[in-house]
Amino acid sequence: MTALTIRQVTKSFGPVRALSGVDLDVPAESLTAVLGPSGCGKTTLLRLIAGFTTPDAGTIAFGDQQVSGAGVSIRPQRRGVGYVPQEGALFPHLDIAANITFGLSRAARRSRQRLDDLLDLVELERRLATRYPHELSGGQQQRVALARALAPKPSIVLLDEPFSSLDAALRLSTAQAVAQALRAAHATAVLVTHDQDEALSLADQVAVMRDGRMIQVGAPDTVYTKPADPAVATFVGAAVLIPATVRGQSADCALGTLTVAPGSVQGPAQLLIRPEQIQLLAEHGADGVTARVGEVSYFGHDATVQLHLEPGGPDIVARVMGNRTPQPGTRVRLAVDGLTAAFPCEPWASVARRSLSGR
Ligand SMILES: Nc1ncnc2c1ncn2[C@@H]1O[C@H](COP(=O)(O)OP(=O)(O)OP(=O)(O)O)[C@@H](O)[C@H]1O
Ligand SMILES: [Mg+2]
Repeated sequence: MTALTIRQVTKSFGPVRALSGVDLDVPAESLTAVLGPSGCGKTTLLRLIAGFTTPDAGTIAFGDQQVSGAGVSIRPQRRGVGYVPQEGALFPHLDIAANITFGLSRAARRSRQRLDDLLDLVELERRLATRYPHELSGGQQQRVALARALAPKPSIVLLDEPFSSLDAALRLSTAQAVAQALRAAHATAVLVTHDQDEALSLADQVAVMRDGRMIQVGAPDTVYTKPADPAVATFVGAAVLIPATVRGQSADCALGTLTVAPGSVQGPAQLLIRPEQIQLLAEHGADGVTARVGEVSYFGHDATVQLHLEPGGPDIVARVMGNRTPQPGTRVRLAVDGLTAAFPCEPWASVARRSLSGR
C-alpha cells in the first residue's frame, strides 16, 4: 500500500522556484531517502508534506486521504506526522522524559510505561530520562528527537538531515539505530540527506532531487547501477566516465571492449564505470590495457588508485582492497568487472558540474 502520494507539486518563494512538478510515492512501512545537493528543495518538500506550507499546484495524499492541494488543506497538527527538523530539535529547558512525551495527552504523559517503551525503541538507557539535552551526546540527542517524533504514533515520520551534526563514527551507528527503530515502530519514513552513503545504506527507496525536480526514484542498487543520467551517477558515488562507441552490448573505449547493459544507447556514448569495477592485474599478461600507477589514497578498508592509461589515454580512478594497494610508479594491466552503463553523448560534464554545485 502507498502511504504517501505526491503528484505534480510545485512551490515558489517569490522568484525562487523551489519545487517543479515533483512526483513521489512512498510505500507504507518503508524508508525513503530524499537525496540531493544543498538548495535543491528537500526541506521544502518535507515542510509541504508536514503541512507547514501549502503547494502552489499539485496534490499530496496520505493513503487515500488528500491532505494538500485542489482546495484541500489539512492543518499540520491533524495530519499525524512526526517531524525531526534539520536543527535544534529538543527543548533545552525540559528534561528528556518531558521532551519525549511533549506531544502526548496528559494521561499518556503520566504513563512511565510509554516513556520506557520509547526509550527502549530508540535504544537509549532509561536512566537518561531525567537528564537535560545538554547532558547528552549528539547521537543520544538525535535518538531523543526521534523518540519524541514517534511518541504520538504518527502515520508518517519526516526526518530532515538528522545526523548531519554528528561525526563519522557516531553518524553511522546513530543512523542504523534510527532506521532500526523506525522499522520496529512500523513507521513510514522520509529521510532527507545529502549524504549518498547514508541514503544507499539505510533506505528501501532513494529519491534523487536536483534543482527542484525529482530526477530518479528507485531501489538503492538501481539508482547506483542504473543512474538516470551522468549527474546522478556522480552524485550517488564515485564514477569514471569515458567516451565510447556502443554496438549491441559491446562498448569500445580506452579500457578496451566492455559489456554494456541490454537495451543501452547505441553509437557514440559516455560510459559509466564504478571505480570498484576496475581490477588491477600483474603487468605481464595477454589481456587488458596497461596503466601506470599514480597517487594511492589509503583508507584502511580500501584505497583509491590514480591510473594513467598508456599510451596517453585518460586518467581514471580504481578502488581496491586496502591490503591490495600497488606501488606508485609501477605498471599494471586493467580489467573491468561486470556491466557498465552507457549515456547518450552530450556535453554532460558542464551540466553535471553546474547542477550539482549546490546553491
Ligand atoms: N521561506 C523561504 N523563502 C524564500 N526562499 C526559500 C524559503 N525556503 C526555501 N527557499 C529557497 O528554496 C530553495 C530550496 O530550499 P530548501 O531549504 O528546500 O533546500 P534544501 O534542499 O533543503 O537545502 P539544504 O540541503 O541546504 O538544507 C532554496 O533556493 C532556498 O533558498
Ligand atoms: Mg534543508
